[in-house]
Amino acid sequence: MPDNRERLVSLLRPGSAPAGKNEGFLDLLGEIPQAGPPTGLAQRLMRTSAVPMIYEHYWRPALGRIAKGLNGPSMDDEVRIAVEALGLRPGKVALDVACGTGRFTRAFGEAVGPDGLSIGLDGSVSMLEKALVAPNPPSVTYLRADAVDLPLADSTVDAVCCFAALHMFANPDAALDSFARVLKPGGAVVMLTSARHGDQPMRLADTVLGRLSGQRMFDRGEIAMKLFRRGFDHVEEQYSGVTQIVTGELPVNIRP
Ligand SMILES: C[S@@+](CC[C@H](N)C(=O)[O-])C[C@H]1O[C@@H](n2cnc3c(N)ncnc32)[C@H](O)[C@@H]1O
Repeated sequence: MPDNRERLVSLLRPGSAPAGKNEGFLDLLGEIPQAGPPTGLAQRLMRTSAVPMIYEHYWRPALGRIAKGLNGPSMDDEVRIAVEALGLRPGKVALDVACGTGRFTRAFGEAVGPDGLSIGLDGSVSMLEKALVAPNPPSVTYLRADAVDLPLADSTVDAVCCFAALHMFANPDAALDSFARVLKPGGAVVMLTSARHGDQPMRLADTVLGRLSGQRMFDRGEIAMKLFRRGFDHVEEQYSGVTQIVTGELPVNIRP
């Protein structure tokens, strides 16, 4: 059976060449510091050496709680929601887009088992280095690449997860096109992203805070609509605070 790195390379778009020498993850960006056009402070912090050190245990749970509100899902709930929404089973291929330190990637690795593949993709070297330190199941592999223009070939993965990142990308629509392109027919997507309040003055405050941190505030229903337009069905939304979790599935028989 080929090892994870070989399996990952076999799923890449023709012409995707490794650019860096990092042994722990496949690096398609090399000396390029930022994957895709930079969008601001939040994205920049993810490339520091300090934030990845405290990200998983302090930063993400604390900021997530503020964004989701007291009644929103815990971090463990988020992971469980993602695994269930993606219908992960042994042998499946999961892609965790903007994986950070790999909390979700590791859970997907457990769910797909040793015959499956869980790919954690991120643009930040320091996030990926931290992800490698954690005990990763045998099916996990990491890839440094741009989340907006995914380097995988068409229809190669069963599941795409993108938590806490779509609102940080320079071109979220292009990212969603990429997600739909790399998913196999019948594949599933799950995303956690921003959701602006409907009423003023909260709406204005959300927009200002988003702009200051370089994060886009999506409207309620906006992501679901974007998924419908890309051919997804069974689209469901779950709102907490200023966040939304949106899931969808591509039909098994995609019309030409
Ligand atoms: C807030 S973290 C989310 C990590 C994880 N998904 C989670 O839910 O905890 C956002 C991640 O997106 C990555 N990121 C931002 N823009 C990116 C891009 N264009 N390509 C690849 N990764 C990107 C950052 O490096 C960072 O690790």
